[in-house]
Amino acid sequence: MIITVGNIKGGVGKTTIAVNLASHRATQGESVCLIDADDQGTATLFTEIREHELENSDYTCVAVRGAQVRSQGLSLSKKFDHTIIDCGGRDTEAFRAALTICDVLLVPTAPRSFDFWAVTQLTRLLDEVESVRDLPEIYAVVNMADATGTDNEEVKEALNDYKQIKVLDEMLVRRKAWPNAASKGLGVFEYSPKDAKAVNEFESLIKRIF
Ligand SMILES: Nc1ncnc2c1ncn2[C@@H]1O[C@H](COP(=O)(O)OP(=O)(O)O)[C@@H](O)[C@H]1O
Ligand SMILES: [Mg+2]
Repeated sequence: MIITVGNIKGGVGKTTIAVNLASHRATQGESVCLIDADDQGTATLFTEIREHELENSDYTCVAVRGAQVRSQGLSLSKKFDHTIIDCGGRDTEAFRAALTICDVLLVPTAPRSFDFWAVTQLTRLLDEVESVRDLPEIYAVVNMADATGTDNEEVKEALNDYKQIKVLDEMLVRRKAWPNAASKGLGVFEYSPKDAKAVNEFESLIKRIF
């Protein structure tokens, strides 16, 4: 299965979610290829830190750029149980290439209006994709959700208007454990002291996707 974690907005948690998915599947004994399709190379950096911390990242991380994401992604996906593509936060050639080959597009979005507007723009890109292929399964996940208040539900309701996108009930609340774990090259589920709420939210997302 090829999963693209993408959006045309930066800072919504794409890389955080991509590296957590890759690490989690790998620690479950599944073979995983993480494709870093963002020039900023954050997923690659995370993996280097992880290798240093654990001696072995458990998954294979490959940096692939531009249109090559399509050809490389297809051939790598034949060798691994899961191929996870982390894209940059713009409408890039790499993101478009990933959209041509993935089975699932996971779109993290924060419950804020700028982020919601970006999803509106993304749906136009998805219309273009739909003219050349059947769309992948597209899931929007609210990340950096508020621990309280009504904004999370309001944004989910607004996202529900986009027929191409399934809005997941599962959400990831904004919690310090995410950046803390990432800075050590670890998934939130591996980090100590354990943030049980963050881990539960992530595991619910995992169950939903896999
Ligand atoms: N659920 C969360 N709670 C708290 N911080 C988060 C959460 N998700 C992501 N972050 C932080 O937000 C910042 C942007 O995340 P990142 O994964 O780099 O986004 P993107 O890849 O979409 O640009 C990072 O500092 C990351 O640690
Ligand atoms: Mg990123």
